[in-house]
Amino acid sequence: MTSPDLILGTAMWAWTTPKETCFQLLDHFYEAGFREVDAATNYPLNNDTAQFRAAENILLEWIQINGVQDLKVMMKVGSLTNVRTPDNNLSKSFLLMMLDEYLHLFGSNLDTFMIHWDNRSEKNEIRATLEALATAQKKGLQIGLSGLKFPNIYDQLNASFGFDFRIQIKHNLLQSTYSHYDAFHGKAKFITYGINAGGIKLDQNYHEQSSLKVRGGNTQEEPKIISALRNKIKAQNEKLAEQPITNFNQCGMTYAFHSPDIDGILLGSSKVTQLDASLQFYQSLKKGSYQAFYKALKKLHEDV
Ligand SMILES: NC(=O)c1ccc[n+]([C@@H]2O[C@H](COP(=O)([O-])OP(=O)(O)OC[C@H]3O[C@@H](n4cnc5c(N)ncnc54)[C@H](OP(=O)(O)O)[C@@H]3O)[C@@H](O)[C@H]2O)c1
Repeated sequence: MTSPDLILGTAMWAWTTPKETCFQLLDHFYEAGFREVDAATNYPLNNDTAQFRAAENILLEWIQINGVQDLKVMMKVGSLTNVRTPDNNLSKSFLLMMLDEYLHLFGSNLDTFMIHWDNRSEKNEIRATLEALATAQKKGLQIGLSGLKFPNIYDQLNASFGFDFRIQIKHNLLQSTYSHYDAFHGKAKFITYGINAGGIKLDQNYHEQSSLKVRGGNTQEEPKIISALRNKIKAQNEKLAEQPITNFNQCGMTYAFHSPDIDGILLGSSKVTQLDASLQFYQSLKKGSYQAFYKALKKLHEDV
């Protein structure tokens, strides 16, 4: 069984993460041998319409400056704005236009074409979307799904397309959308996002630009599960693992890494120090050092 790969996220770029830091993150990630980067037309999703597509433009600028041709960009498409509304266009003609646009911009660096949010239930409309995705597949791209309201319809229609879907799911110690996609269990490649539940800190060291704070999360009150989590961490560290568990990110990574069907883990690192810590911890996960800790994390909700 292969380990889930790490994918660099870009949702906070040009929002809490300035361009210089994004460049440093890309430099570090690339030099460490990783290639997968997640992007979306509507990043940053910060309600500032002047910033529409700003995150992908930072990524493009870095690619151009460095002459990189072997990145693996996962591009989420369909959104029409970066304000937080479900407004999008998943018609065949619009998706084919976006496909041309991103093939033109990213060239050999484009790896996955993923649709972003679909609240529709009308089969003929969804079939037309899948026809556009079939064109993307013929051009050598992997195909992805994210934010589907009716995954079962996609699964049924896929009988005549045969896509090997990559599916992004929110999956962390507080909540998971894995069960919503049960039609795809055992047959799709799942990618986790939000492993830090938006930026939870066990040391509660939040500041004005903390990811959790700017996204409207509660930094005053801890979720109930956290005190049970502290006990699990204490028990784990008493076992003298090779690297003690010191933060929520390590818990989220452990949980995602060992969960079923997980093919990729999205990292939302906002600083190089965070990215570096996550890359180091990933090496320990690959050695299998935290399997028992994962089992303890799975039981967390029983203890609350
Ligand atoms: N498909 C979708 O609908 C969807 C939705 C959301 C996200 N995504 C993708 O997934 C990526 C990650 O999502 P997310 O930002 O919601 O993830 P997240 O992992 O829940 O939150 C990221 C935040 O966690 C903190 N963090 C990350 N690594 C850390 C470390 N090593 N040590 C301490 N704190 C750490 C940082 O907070 P501070 O900045 O406050 O330090 C960071 O901004 C996004 O960039 C995007 O590419 C996809």
